[in-house]
Amino acid sequence: MPKNNNRAHIIVVGNEKGGSGKSTTAMHIIVSLMKRNFNVSVVDLDARQKSLSRYLENRLNYATKHDLKLSIPDVYILSRSMQGDIDNMMFEDTKNFSELMEELHKESDFILIDCPGTDSNLSRLAHSVADTLITPINDSFVDLDLLASVNPDTFKVDKLSHYSEMVWDARKHRAMTDRGTIDWIVMRNRTSSLDAINKRRVNDALKELQKRISFRYIQGLGERVIYRELFPRGLTLVDMRDTDDKVTMSHIAARQEIRRLMNDLKLPGWQEEVVEKKRQGVGF
Ligand SMILES: Nc1ncnc2c1ncn2[C@@H]1O[C@H](COP(=O)(O)OP(=O)(O)OP(=O)(O)O)[C@@H](O)[C@H]1O
Ligand SMILES: [Mg+2]
Repeated sequence: MPKNNNRAHIIVVGNEKGGSGKSTTAMHIIVSLMKRNFNVSVVDLDARQKSLSRYLENRLNYATKHDLKLSIPDVYILSRSMQGDIDNMMFEDTKNFSELMEELHKESDFILIDCPGTDSNLSRLAHSVADTLITPINDSFVDLDLLASVNPDTFKVDKLSHYSEMVWDARKHRAMTDRGTIDWIVMRNRTSSLDAINKRRVNDALKELQKRISFRYIQGLGERVIYRELFPRGLTLVDMRDTDDKVTMSHIAARQEIRRLMNDLKLPGWQEEVVEKKRQGVGF
């Protein structure tokens, strides 16, 4: 998609729980988009762990070592301000964040922001500019707490979580500043076929919850060893055809999962690209 305006589509991957699959999901979305020639800029707000930046660093090293042509985006690490009092820190964070966004809008079709698993001023700022917000949650009732406390029998919402309140504030802020809306997508990660009963119950609870706190609930990713194995080499399932890896049935199923995820996100320009690629008989 050629860049034809001064505004990129902002994808934020966030929640307030460590290890739920934000960076893994982010990485697969980035590579999927780049594979289709979209300009993608990446912002890593997890300046302490830098797992997405490290994933991309591993990718660069692997591509160099094996002489592979892998698409690698520019990544910007934004650290929270530590200068002065709270007001001053907020002011500095807002200034740094806005300046970076302004710059990236000019050169990108998509800006992907990976958030840390904790609340921070920068993370709030990111949520308030999101066009698409993706929240991965693991497959258990404990993780549902991330969205709201839910009665396990009736699925009635007792209380919104701190995180859902924060998204609510971000939506209000967005509506007031540019009348924009945030497409909030909750996706399950690490679903396992072993615990079918729990899986169904979480599924039912999420279906109920999505009506009450206005998110779109999509299927997401299964529990697969491959996701852990790809990190040290900086690869994604989307790259498998460009490497010497032996493609197994499990890889094919996982690739389909990623393709479904990308379609379910309904990102601007993506569906047209699918149609065009199909017409040309090209897979991804
Ligand atoms: N679907 C999956 N199947 C198996 N392992 C997974 C899956 N998704 C993520 N993982 C693994 O779980 C761990 C945490 O994932 P990831 O780093 O993506 O989470 P995160 O939400 O970004 O964590 P943090 O909050 O610490 O930034 C990693 O080791 C990753 O490889
Ligand atoms: Mg992460």
